[in-house]
Amino acid sequence: MKKILFAASECVPFIKTGGLADVVGSLPKCFDKRYFDVRVIIPKYLCIPKEYTEKMEYIDNFYMDIGNDNKYVGIFKMKYEGITFYFIDNEFYFSGAKPYGDLLWDLEKFIYFSKAVLSVLPVIGFQPDIIHCHDWQTGLIPVFLKERFHNSDFFRDIKSVMTIHNLKFQGVWDVDTVRTLSGLPDYFFTPDKLEAYKDGNLLKGGIVFADAITTVSYTYAEEIKMPFYGEGLDGLLRARANDLRGIVNGIDYDEYNPTTDKLIVNPYDARDFRKEKVKNKTALQEELGLDVDPKKMMIGIVSRLTDQKGFDLIAYVMDELCQDNVQIVILGTGEERYENMFRHFDWKYANKVSANIYYSEALSHKIYAASDAFLMPSLFEPCGLSQLMALHYGTLPIVRETGGLKDTVEPYNEYESTGTGFSFMNYNAHEMLGCIRNAERIYYDRKREWNKMVDRAMAADFSWHVSALKYQELYDWLIG
Ligand code: ADP
Ligand code: GLC
Repeated sequence: MKKILFAASECVPFIKTGGLADVVGSLPKCFDKRYFDVRVIIPKYLCIPKEYTEKMEYIDNFYMDIGNDNKYVGIFKMKYEGITFYFIDNEFYFSGAKPYGDLLWDLEKFIYFSKAVLSVLPVIGFQPDIIHCHDWQTGLIPVFLKERFHNSDFFRDIKSVMTIHNLKFQGVWDVDTVRTLSGLPDYFFTPDKLEAYKDGNLLKGGIVFADAITTVSYTYAEEIKMPFYGEGLDGLLRARANDLRGIVNGIDYDEYNPTTDKLIVNPYDARDFRKEKVKNKTALQEELGLDVDPKKMMIGIVSRLTDQKGFDLIAYVMDELCQDNVQIVILGTGEERYENMFRHFDWKYANKVSANIYYSEALSHKIYAASDAFLMPSLFEPCGLSQLMALHYGTLPIVRETGGLKDTVEPYNEYESTGTGFSFMNYNAHEMLGCIRNAERIYYDRKREWNKMVDRAMAADFSWHVSALKYQELYDWLIG
């Protein structure tokens, strides 16, 4: 039995701010249980809903040296859908209303978390073959493993994998602070280790010291080796190219399934969507106060409202787009200027635009089900899960050809009648608008063609089973 421990800062159903939580929560269920014992460890945030914290079992506690301090580490455990989850408890660090906020504070708490993950292992009696680390918050785990923990028999043979879900966030602060908080010796802070552009960089540490590196699509794995997408680490990623692979994300088809989804008004499947899907649209039009018209094309957006997702393109042509015969439904939170931009258009085109500036699992499902098309013109996109959800609900993605969007949405080819969505290449607002208008044309003038695309979109398989096998191969390769 190969033992794997996932370490991450978020995980569904306990705590989620984005796709990372979906991946960490759904992938462990998809490994072959005859050969792999995959467990997960995350912080025990105070903002995890009570329905879960109540069911957690207290295991033990101890005090751990970290930086110049001695800090409490509590351990809780819970089995959920067949997977064992561990939770690191420390109310000083994890009592915020959200998992992240102030960067310096986040840095300190995730340095603590990274060391605590290793320190609890002998206490819980779980000696993994591999620790699979996700994003900068866990970047110091591979570093600590090769540093002080290396002298112990318990830790010496543990391998580590670093998965990059988003290279934009690296956990960066000045060297002195990172050195003090982590307690790592001076010689770790050189440009071949944790130092990058004179600062301390946690993700860089993970990338340098992990035994293997992955990211969440093939295209993003290639892109990040180039300066435009490399966020300053492209040189390092080129140097480690032999140990870097792209494995495209999947989604949990038990959670995101138009046939069984309890959050949507009218379930449907690949056979009856032509008649049944639209009932979700009219119900949502009514709920959100838009014109109720089954024929009107609805374009959905469910997203963090950040530069990454291409919202400046949308802002630039929104007025033009609103002249078309479409409705636009937005669900998201993030940068204030984008929140206000959508509020403004919601006010200006009240019966056409609905801006919902909050977080809601339920409304997200309704939008995936109700919309005809799903807009995601990202500047960069490591993988993207929203377009996979849209595809499975027969809602055709309109995307920019980057990262995982390029790998998962096959562009419509009018002549060969192939494709599952619409895409454009350059980061240009009018190229995007042209692409949206092409989709409008097919939707209104060639409905049979549109519906055949929906057939193909719903038939596309982005469940985890193919990608879980690729992670299994990677683990096998690492531990033989
Ligand atoms: P990222 O991780 O970069 O935010 P992904 O496409 O990988 O992008 O994943 C986003 C996830 O977060 C999807 O599950 C999406 O449905 C969800 N999501 C984003 N914003 C909201 C919101 N305001 N309400 C509900 N779900 C949201
Ligand atoms: C990140 C990326 C997103 C990816 C997700 C899960 O948040 O922005 O593209 O799908 O991680 O891997």
